[in-house]
Amino acid sequence: MANVGLIFGGRSVEHQVSVSSARTIAGALEAAGHQVVPLGIAPDGCWVDPALATRALAGDLDSLPSVGGPIAPTLRRLLQVEVDVLFPIVHGTWGEDGTLQGLCEMIDVPYVGTGVLSSAAAMDKAVAKQLLEAAGLPVVGYELIDRRSFTHSPEECLRRLERFEPPVFVKPSVGGSSVGITKVPHREGLRASIENALRFDDRVIVEHNITGRELECAVLGYQQLEASAIGEIVAGKEFYDYADKYLEEGAELIAPAELDAATTERLQAIAVEAFAALGGWGMARVDFLLESADRIYINEINTLPGFTSISMYPRLWEISGLSNAQLVDRLVDIAMRRHRDRQRLDRGIKDWIAELTADRS
Ligand SMILES: Nc1ncnc2c1ncn2[C@@H]1O[C@H](COP(=O)(O)OP(=O)(O)O)[C@@H](O)[C@H]1O
Ligand SMILES: [Mg+2]
Repeated sequence: MANVGLIFGGRSVEHQVSVSSARTIAGALEAAGHQVVPLGIAPDGCWVDPALATRALAGDLDSLPSVGGPIAPTLRRLLQVEVDVLFPIVHGTWGEDGTLQGLCEMIDVPYVGTGVLSSAAAMDKAVAKQLLEAAGLPVVGYELIDRRSFTHSPEECLRRLERFEPPVFVKPSVGGSSVGITKVPHREGLRASIENALRFDDRVIVEHNITGRELECAVLGYQQLEASAIGEIVAGKEFYDYADKYLEEGAELIAPAELDAATTERLQAIAVEAFAALGGWGMARVDFLLESADRIYINEINTLPGFTSISMYPRLWEISGLSNAQLVDRLVDIAMRRHRDRQRLDRGIKDWIAELTADRS
């Protein structure tokens, strides 16, 4: 039994999804016998009054009201609570990208989910691709365009893209919820799409369009990572864009996906290797694009995946035999173990310095 500080809401466009995710997690934590301490972050980044956070978790509020003013003084809400472990479920920027994980590290409280480096690496699609490629894992072929070179010579950048047969995908390197992503049907549209993506990040990825299926696998573990059954997303539109995700909800989420055993096993093995390649632990949802059985690509890795009642991550574990309560319990346990190991590593450095100094005296 632990006192779990559940951090939710946040500054990204996924604020409301986070509130929904937090509700599922709160229920599961309580079912597992843990005590939930609600910690809400408003859309302006301020930490809110605990009474408001409690109301949002109870279903009275769909989102937390902005507080106004600087964020720093509101941090006392986090610093004042007495918890054994923090469970951040803030999706997107300022939550999933290593920043919140860094805050948890600084205040030295165990936290659920992967660490600073792997969170940041997974959030940046270009960095993630580079790490995955280096590990020999399959990613969609791409070019990286940065603001500096595009501003200096857009023609030179566009020349580098001539090897791509349209349609192509243009994406901000850091982002989520499909914001800033376009599927470009003709070369003429490339320039405007890159300019659009540069509104959201300083680096833009241009990659081949993969015609095929979108599959997802949930990963869980610490030293030993495990993979769940496979799920499938069938987009309601041209691709799984922002409107499809949150406005129209036309997409279909199928779990388990209809796949042969060999492909399932291959996806599970790649999912585990991919998260390991980023140095991850805790949880991740690894998303794939499958052109054919022997053409599987990792699309992206989400380290704080959606956790709503219909989200793929908990659903995939449910059909793999792990209830929500068991799942969050495992995550809390991993957080505690990781924190102990992190302290041991820190002691290792201090002991080593002490030995070195003792040898010299
Ligand atoms: N190379 C690609 N080929 C085909 N579809 C793609 C490709 N890249 C992205 N998509 C589509 O766009 C959606 C959003 O892209 P994704 O890279 O997952 O960004 P986000 O981090 O915003 O979810 C995917 O779910 C998929 O439907
Ligand atoms: Mg995605």
